[in-house]
Amino acid sequence: MTELVSVLFGRDEVSRRVRELGRAITQDHADRAPVLITVLKGGAIFLADLMRQIELPVELHFMAISRYGGAEESLGRVQILLDVDADITGRPVILVEDIVDTGLTLTYLLSALKERGPASLEVCALLDKSVRRIVPVDIRYAGFDCPDRFVVGYGMDLHERYRNVPDILQVNDSAALDRAPDELTSLITAGP
Ligand code: IMP
Ligand code: MG
Repeated sequence: MTELVSVLFGRDEVSRRVRELGRAITQDHADRAPVLITVLKGGAIFLADLMRQIELPVELHFMAISRYGGAEESLGRVQILLDVDADITGRPVILVEDIVDTGLTLTYLLSALKERGPASLEVCALLDKSVRRIVPVDIRYAGFDCPDRFVVGYGMDLHERYRNVPDILQVNDSAALDRAPDELTSLITAGP
């Protein structure tokens, strides 16, 4: 394997953890029908696996956002490009994210959703890059704590590529990868 990246969480470990998260959500929401809201695009792969580990009727909605500039400068102000097309008032809502970094995006989204009066509003994030946090956020369901490295795969991209790598990879040399963006192509292998 190229030295530009290394496997941070392999596909088997990810699948085990997703199963545990699904089980926890199922237990905590017995007799309810949670509304799962995911932010495109990175969270979509995690969501697809997670929802099939939740043994409850769930509803599924997507949001798409764009940021003004970088997260830090924009203080997390984002423009909502695609919104939830259902009334979430009085409903248990779980916001599903691939990765929480500074927490700015999530904080903005949570405040936007909270105004709509859900019965509960919780976060399920596969990766928690907690050392990078600027705004504290309560992540009720967190998959893995993530080191301060850029990660790709399992939905997460580098310039829109590599979302379909089955493992979660940490990038060891971003500059080298930018110079050789095809370097990871051999890591795109179909799962079992
Ligand atoms: P935050 O507002 O800084 O918490 O940004 C979180 C968003 O940034 C995530 O939903 C991802 O879309 C993106 N992001 C943060 N870190 C990474 C990473 O290491 N790889 C890929 N995307 C990332
Ligand atoms: Mg995201």
